[in-house]
Amino acid sequence: MTEEERDQFVVTPWEVEGQIDYDRLIREFGTQPITDQLLRRFEKEAGTLHHMLKRKIFFSHRDLDLVLDDVKSGKGFFLYTGRGPTGPMHIGHILPLYFSKWLQDRFKVNLYIQVTDDEKFLYEKRGLTLDDTRRWAYDNILDIIAVGLDPDRTFIFQDTEYMGNIYPLAVKVARRINFSVTKAVFGFDEQTNIGMIFYPAVQVVPSLFEKKRCLIPAAIDQDPYWRVQRDVAEPLGYYKTAAIHSKLIPPLTGTEGKMSTSRPETAIYLSDDDKTVRDKIMKYAFSGGQPTVELHRKLGGNPDVDVPFQWLYMFFEEDDAKVKKIESEYRSGKLLTGDLKQMLADRVSDFLNKHRERREKSSELVKVFKREGKLAKKMWATIYE
Ligand code: TYM
Repeated sequence: MTEEERDQFVVTPWEVEGQIDYDRLIREFGTQPITDQLLRRFEKEAGTLHHMLKRKIFFSHRDLDLVLDDVKSGKGFFLYTGRGPTGPMHIGHILPLYFSKWLQDRFKVNLYIQVTDDEKFLYEKRGLTLDDTRRWAYDNILDIIAVGLDPDRTFIFQDTEYMGNIYPLAVKVARRINFSVTKAVFGFDEQTNIGMIFYPAVQVVPSLFEKKRCLIPAAIDQDPYWRVQRDVAEPLGYYKTAAIHSKLIPPLTGTEGKMSTSRPETAIYLSDDDKTVRDKIMKYAFSGGQPTVELHRKLGGNPDVDVPFQWLYMFFEEDDAKVKKIESEYRSGKLLTGDLKQMLADRVSDFLNKHRERREKSSELVKVFKREGKLAKKMWATIYE
């Protein structure tokens, strides 16, 4: 890749284009890399390390060290993450939620999940009606519940339903963000509709739901919101939020850009059945293998660009020894592209079948997760103080 091509990638909350240079994002966004030393501290507090931490799929952070201090001192912290309901969820969208579940289980902390049916209606490029985004919100909430979150420690809310409750805090946040900041951070301009311009305040609010430090697990694309949050939180009497950022699972078709709802071959959806999963992977997955079996046996494959290997490494294969073996056998030419693709198809189907089995029961639980129980009361104390 030339220097010029490297310069061309784009990562915003709405768009991802080109080949992402994650080290450069750390510098440009002003975040911190997750170091081995920080991971050792993390392991000490959590008792173990998730494979996405060990492998630095979660590669960057803000104030994660302070979260660990708060764990150690007994002060504690809380989690916040979300989903913008534009359509069916794909495996990238569910990654931060499975990781949040792991964090919730390890640290026994509260988790708030914002479903932004307002944002995805306001983002006009999508062309979705408010009915569409509200319908997808319900569908996506079923998937979120299927992750297996602790119902006593999780609160899921949908912006167009819950806005009345968070509005007092949203206006306090909004008054502290001026238009020029949103232009610089989000690229808004004179043509941007004013709903979008207000929206960042809405995404900041849940990070203020408790008078503790908030930790936000999400991919790095959402970080611009946290930058704004960290400017406004302290003057309002809250903590600057902490964040832990993951890389983006690449599209099936190659390592550039992102999985897209308008191009179904680029993504695997949580609703894809075994046959669809297999067909998509066999037909579209970008391979680092050689054009013929003969050449592959001789020269070996390149796991660094091979999407099936990347998907296994980033998310689907938890076992470190297995991943190592796959990597070395693929590099040496012992493992063929077709075998690797089959391996991924099996792992993905297995994962999705278990997910969907739990999803069958999700609709009975929607009320439980949206109920205004213990957590809501706690939030209201910070909103109306
Ligand atoms: P949305 O719906 O675009 O994405 C939902 C979550 O999935 C992450 N993500 C990915 N992670 C790994 N690989 C990928 N290919 C991939 N694509 C998306 C996103 O980073 C996000 O964490 N505005 C938000 C909704 C939101 C939110 C939040 C997200 C509201 N509050 C707090 C995170 C944290 C949105 O549209 O996300």
